[in-house]
Amino acid sequence: MYDAVRPLLFGLAPEPAHFAGTAALNAALLTGPSRALARSMFQVRHSALETERFGIRFPNPVGLAAGFDKSGESFNALGALGFGHVEIGTVTALPQPGNPRPRLFRLPADRALLNRMGFNNPGADAVTARLRRTRIEPVLGINIGKSKATALEDATSDYLRSLELLEAFAAYVVVNVSSPNTPGLRQLQDAAPLRELLRALRIRAAELAKIRGGGARPILLKIAPDLTDPQVEEAVGIAAEEGMAGVIATNTTISRDGLRTRGVDGMGAGGISGAPVHRRAVQVVSLIWRTTGGRMPIVGVGGVFGAADAWEMIRAGASLVQVWTGFIYQGPTIARDINRGLLDRLRNEGLDRISQAVGMAHP
Ligand code: FNR
Repeated sequence: MYDAVRPLLFGLAPEPAHFAGTAALNAALLTGPSRALARSMFQVRHSALETERFGIRFPNPVGLAAGFDKSGESFNALGALGFGHVEIGTVTALPQPGNPRPRLFRLPADRALLNRMGFNNPGADAVTARLRRTRIEPVLGINIGKSKATALEDATSDYLRSLELLEAFAAYVVVNVSSPNTPGLRQLQDAAPLRELLRALRIRAAELAKIRGGGARPILLKIAPDLTDPQVEEAVGIAAEEGMAGVIATNTTISRDGLRTRGVDGMGAGGISGAPVHRRAVQVVSLIWRTTGGRMPIVGVGGVFGAADAWEMIRAGASLVQVWTGFIYQGPTIARDINRGLLDRLRNEGLDRISQAVGMAHP
């Protein structure tokens, strides 16, 4: 089916195609019964796929990565496509339009995308208002980032504002310090500012939980694939010391190495996602697993198109995987296809649960 639809979508410019695709999905899956029907078609229900991490029960390990539903308009429809979790955002404290268009490009020869969206989103207040009106169906992650207009020195208070508004609606919160499209943002991965930011967020999350009368929301750190191995080790060490619940590896890369697409330089700045980032993302997952002795929950993301890619991530140490670019190229059956493929692999290996495969690649 998607084989017929994809050429139509790919006939449009990427950003209009994204809006057309999500508008169609939202319209088709507007009502509860239509989403229940979609779930019956796309959701793979099997106890072997269920996994519990940082106090959350995930029905399956395949989630949708941040940046697809930046404003939290489509997460129920997306969840009905069988994703085990949906991560909305990046949301910033202040509303912002993002970078001028064009800012999203397809690189089909590389099974990749290039984007410099720049955190276009309606801001934390507007997203909070929307979440308040909506009954949230999937396991919902909320990814927060720094507003472009906020100076880097004031980043902590900017993130805190988003946390305060949004955490009550989230199953987990992600601190995004790894987008290449907000000037200076990735400097927040350096030791001193990272520690300050993570500590402040964790303390506030605990205070907010006390006021709410529940448990503190787990906070995960999302890192870039362009960090060196020692930088990954340092950032993950700080995340562990500052009580982060997990690490998401990785965001998009600024590297253009090995791309087949001609004229990429002419497309300008931005992050590459999809197949070209897969190898490094798996390496980073592996490195985190080894550095932490498998104790830090890892969400593996980068170039996951099918079950083989997801299985590789899981064996490297990821408890959960996410997709973004794969969704564009493989279509709306991607979560179902990956989950079915994972079940086959579990059977072949004689394993009962996906958690038994996590980190299996390490002796
Ligand atoms: C992203 N990604 C992203 N990540 C994030 O933390 N916040 C964001 O707002 C966005 N926005 C965004 C927009 C677009 C157009 C793309 C393609 C990607 C990164 C995404 O979540 C993921 O980490 C990478 O794309 C790598 O995974 P894939 O795409 O190779 O599966």
